[in-house]
Amino acid sequence: MSNRAIIFDTTLRDGEQSPGATMNLQEKLRLARQLQLLGVDVIEAGFPASSSGDFEAVRAISAAVKDVQVAGLCRAAEGDIDKGWQALKDAENPRLHVFLATSPIHMQYKLRKTPEQVLEITERAVRYAARYTSNVEFSAEDASRSDRDFLARVFSVAIAAGATTINVPDTVGYAQPAEYGELIRYVIEHTRDAHKAVFSVHCHNDLGLAVANTLSALNNGARQAELALGGIGERAGNAALEEVCMALKVRQDAYGLETRIQSEQIYPSCRMLSLIIGRPIAANKAIVGGNAFAHESGVHQDGMLKNRETYEIMTPQSIGRTSSDLVIGKHSGRNAVHTRLEELGYQLDEEQTRIVFEAVKQLADKKAAIHDEDLESIVFSEVYRMPDRFRLLNLSVQSSTASMPSTAAVELQTPEGVARLAGFGAGPIDATFNVISQLVGQPTDLEQFAINAITGGTDAQGEVSVRLRDGDALAGGRGSDPDIIVASAKAFIDAHNRLAQKKRS
Ligand code: KIV
Ligand code: ZN
Repeated sequence: MSNRAIIFDTTLRDGEQSPGATMNLQEKLRLARQLQLLGVDVIEAGFPASSSGDFEAVRAISAAVKDVQVAGLCRAAEGDIDKGWQALKDAENPRLHVFLATSPIHMQYKLRKTPEQVLEITERAVRYAARYTSNVEFSAEDASRSDRDFLARVFSVAIAAGATTINVPDTVGYAQPAEYGELIRYVIEHTRDAHKAVFSVHCHNDLGLAVANTLSALNNGARQAELALGGIGERAGNAALEEVCMALKVRQDAYGLETRIQSEQIYPSCRMLSLIIGRPIAANKAIVGGNAFAHESGVHQDGMLKNRETYEIMTPQSIGRTSSDLVIGKHSGRNAVHTRLEELGYQLDEEQTRIVFEAVKQLADKKAAIHDEDLESIVFSEVYRMPDRFRLLNLSVQSSTASMPSTAAVELQTPEGVARLAGFGAGPIDATFNVISQLVGQPTDLEQFAINAITGGTDAQGEVSVRLRDGDALAGGRGSDPDIIVASAKAFIDAHNRLAQKKRS
């Protein structure tokens, strides 16, 4: 059996199904290019038949990336498969990913089909997809709650019809590591011509076991893992790419599996995702969280000083977490900024570099050292931001400890021109949000609000993320600034812009 694990990234498909994690086309393209640098084998770029936005994203990513397979998800229906192929056909190495549920509960209540009908539909859909390409993946949705002998029959039919990857998803995150490993072993042993396909796993994290289940499956014969950066995905998310890949690397002795992952690109990739979806990385997140390499207790610090391996099983450098201070002051040149941006993987044209340089200089007036994270934050908010419908021009707030409410005065650029308003709130952020809501005229519910410091130090930039709901539409926004109220206003406006864009598309 091969000792190579195929890394299939589904951040742009299942990951994007995470509430509030929607990305626009440019953002998906940017992330896809980063995933290519990270060295994933397959990028699942979307579900082409589900919306015109997904179709366009799969098409654009197919044309943009090289040396990586691009997959498009399709239901087991000819219309979906045709749409999928139209979106994928320009890819260097396209993959049609066809799925159909196989558990009793899904077949009876969702599909309203008998097991025999499910076998027929599988056969027909996979054969139809295989007319387009030999790279066909078949997923048995809710496999972990399916009858294992029935699963093996479905997989035998799928392989006979032309599937070359067989995916065994734990769709609802129900499986336990040992039993899931056994299931994988069982279906591989009982599927006809199993050697003609790569067995794959796709685990959800409802019981917090997605990574453990994925690793158990790899130990039992699976050779493809479907993962998402930061573990984002439907409900509690998918198995986190950074955790599975670093477990395989750090515990090579336990798994004996190789991947193509360039581990130094792990942190930049997770950071890019966080900036795009406006969701900070939790401090205690394994591998990429702010505390992952922080040693607090005196005993630990003492041990680290004597030998880092006493408390560190991998280095921050191995995941691309290097902290270099770019000392920018009044006299620093544009070249220094340009060079560091290139080193960080950002290819900006002259005008974009000028914009970043101006913002860096303004920031350098307020804080002593500019870190890579500051620089990235500027790139995302000043250069990559979506064409803004609303933009913050000025903000002035007043807080009070007495019975007086806080006040905020806001000046906003809107499509109709410059708008100004002042108002009150329970605190300065509440006052700011109240005024912006009135100026924007888009009633929303604030579902989440979080402030993080981008770097250390009291002059660090605050990075605020918010999540807004307008009926069924959800959007996340982020903003950064050394002043946390300004950062909050920027994040709130960013989320409004994304909501407005969502409603228009
Ligand atoms: O969770 C799941 O079963 C899926 C399939 C469509 C692969 O996302
Ligand atoms: Zn899934």
